[in-house]
Amino acid sequence: MPKVVLERVSKRFGRITALDEIDLTLDDGEYSCILGPTGSGKTTLLKIIAGLVEPDSGDVYIDGKRVTGTPAEKRNAVYMHQNYALFPHLTVSQNISFGLTARGFEEEAARRKASEVLEIVKLGEWANAYPRELSGGMQQRVALARCLATGARLLLLDEPLGALDARLRLEVRGELSRIAEELNLTVIHVTHDQSEALSLADRLILMRNGRIVQTGSPEEVYFKPNSVFSAYFVGESVFLEGIVRRVDGRVVTLELRNGTIIEALSGDGFNRGELAVAAVRCEDIKVGGGPLTARLKEINFLGSFSKLVFELPEGLKITANIPLSRFIEEEFRIGASFQLSIPRERTRLFKQPPMGLAGEIEAV
Ligand SMILES: Nc1ncnc2c1ncn2[C@@H]1O[C@H](COP(=O)(O)OP(=O)(O)O)[C@@H](O)[C@H]1O
Ligand SMILES: [Mg+2]
Repeated sequence: MPKVVLERVSKRFGRITALDEIDLTLDDGEYSCILGPTGSGKTTLLKIIAGLVEPDSGDVYIDGKRVTGTPAEKRNAVYMHQNYALFPHLTVSQNISFGLTARGFEEEAARRKASEVLEIVKLGEWANAYPRELSGGMQQRVALARCLATGARLLLLDEPLGALDARLRLEVRGELSRIAEELNLTVIHVTHDQSEALSLADRLILMRNGRIVQTGSPEEVYFKPNSVFSAYFVGESVFLEGIVRRVDGRVVTLELRNGTIIEALSGDGFNRGELAVAAVRCEDIKVGGGPLTARLKEINFLGSFSKLVFELPEGLKITANIPLSRFIEEEFRIGASFQLSIPRERTRLFKQPPMGLAGEIEAV
């Protein structure tokens, strides 16, 4: 089964550095999700592994074999394009067997293979239907079946659920996970949707500007973001800028712009007088009780949870996500005053980014 290794892989397009010395090792049978904003280099990375784009420098290894320069069809990998297309005038089965006969399969063998992979994606009964008779989710599964028919053990999926609506996304997401497991595939799944990455990935790889900024299990990246950017891009956070007033072991006292004092736990060393940014998950902000007095400005009801936007004196906004049970039991009235607290053990403290907080999260 394929293990994938990239060593110092770089790729430029004119003045744009799409990939900047990428080092990456992915294990056999692992489901990895590459997450990052548009333009961060995700597609380029996938195409370089697939052999559809050659790197300017660096090497790619699949299954311990250096494949840099090896043609795509000899890599035991299959790339599913972001905008995959089925042939409208061919049946589901023909859509799959077409590629196989083109590669030299006998017609009967290609048909058998098509029916085999259609069983895997649970579309066995639709072999003779035309794509237009299928829902979006089913069409997506045909595209997946077409990839599986190649026999490749390394599946490279570029935003595979991007064209589907929210409900179908969930359905196909579950199918992807099941199929990868059943067939013991190594999957690299590119997405800019964090919930997709969090739910599917054994390993999450976060990219920004052609670089990998963090890798780890979804839980690691979620609970221990290593930068303001990670905390911003994965999950929802409130960011509070301030000056370090006191350092007592791991407990750092921060004075916010408006004079509010909060405490945060820090891994790194901080010094008094230094600028720092505290990140807190919106679901960790406690509403009711606590040292901060804030006015409720906005309520966004989202079903299973609600986003409440509070404003501290002098305009600082804090968004708290509260579960439905809490939303029902208490009356939240716009304009009312609430006490908030920020549990220090749920706070992560970062050095002030060189370009400032806004520069770090608005340039995304
Ligand atoms: N063939 C190309 N020619 C010129 N620029 C490209 C080409 N492919 C990608 N780029 C640029 O490289 C950067 C990374 O692109 P891409 O890998 O498609 O990012 P992502 O998939 O994360 O959105 C972007 O700035 C993009 O405009
Ligand atoms: Mg892309």
